[in-house]
Amino acid sequence: MTTVAYCAAEADGRIHENMMYMHEGIRPELEHFIRILHATGTKVSGQLGHAGGFTKNREFEGKRPLGPSKGINALGLAYGLPRIDAMTTRQIGERVEIFGRAATFMKSVGFDAIEIHFGHGYGISQFISPKTNKRTDEYGGPLVNRMRFGLEVLDAVRKSVGDDYPLLGKISMTDGVAGGVTYEDSIEIAAMLESGGLDVIVCSGGTSSMNPMLLFRGDSLVPGLIKHEKNVLMKLGIKLSAPLMFRSYPYEETYFLEHAQRIRDRVQCGVCYVGGVCTGDSIRRVMRGGFDFIQLGRALIFDPDFPKHAQARPGYKNGCSHCNQCATLIEAPGGIYCVERPDNFA
Ligand SMILES: Cc1cc2nc3c(=O)[nH]c(=O)nc-3n(C[C@H](O)[C@H](O)[C@H](O)COP(=O)(O)O)c2cc1C
Ligand code: SF4
Repeated sequence: MTTVAYCAAEADGRIHENMMYMHEGIRPELEHFIRILHATGTKVSGQLGHAGGFTKNREFEGKRPLGPSKGINALGLAYGLPRIDAMTTRQIGERVEIFGRAATFMKSVGFDAIEIHFGHGYGISQFISPKTNKRTDEYGGPLVNRMRFGLEVLDAVRKSVGDDYPLLGKISMTDGVAGGVTYEDSIEIAAMLESGGLDVIVCSGGTSSMNPMLLFRGDSLVPGLIKHEKNVLMKLGIKLSAPLMFRSYPYEETYFLEHAQRIRDRVQCGVCYVGGVCTGDSIRRVMRGGFDFIQLGRALIFDPDFPKHAQARPGYKNGCSHCNQCATLIEAPGGIYCVERPDNFA
């Protein structure tokens, strides 16, 4: 199954204006796209998310980006979106409904599954994380309250798509910053999501907003981000924030396995492993741990036939160097490609 990311629940849920959001205007293109993918024999999942207060969307229509609590939106500083407003209870309810409607739309255009984004510092994880959620009402404080918005979204999405439709959810097992979600917390987060009706938990980590290198283990994203950034203020911001935000995490195979295993051991629902699977041996090690699925990122960008190659050749090693150049191309006009294999993307 391939995952189409990032399907924003609403226009103001986009991180930047070039992202798609779920609305009737894109139905023909999305249906066509999914039909082409289906013709290859794959199933197609859509990653449904909301940026919350982490946005630099030049087409932002609301008064200010909305998060759980008031704050500074560092990503939006150079884009006229410097501040985050705390959602009112009514606005939380509206966002829940918006997620539900987006899910109905996604099912209707042909997605075979939906992966709700509960992690990586985006809207729902801003509620889950005590670092960004300072609320004192029923949506803030103890974990059970910080999970309320995410569980309401899950419930709305489930009601929209029905009991038989596959629902996955990606979580950050840790924010990787002091005062944020910890690996311990994530075991309970996973259990709550299972009780809420999620079929599969995807065990990721880190956040795009506070600690992206925890997720993108390997070479620093900073040189590439500076190179591709057009906004001069933003370039400066990346340089200034680099020592704090882009900490060094050398690449190692299956770098989240130990922590993901604790979630595997805690829940009965499906569990998907993600993070640093680049060899046939790693695939086998993860599957031996009882995981149901593996999500692949850079290994597939380097070699889209990686699983076939790993199956056919014992000892197969994917050649991705984890230079992370592809990850710095996320917003580049030409799209993402492997800089070591540009011909594959010509
Ligand atoms: C170019 C690129 C784009 C990505 N975009 C997303 C995304 O939209 N949503 C998401 O949850 N993760 C995204 N990721 C993170 C991957 O899902 C995955 O967690 C990460 O790359 C680590 O797995 P890997 O070692 O298999 O690459 C992206 C990764 C890369 C390299
Ligand atoms: S650009 Fe290619 S080699 Fe570098 S991390 Fe991405 S897939 Fe791997």
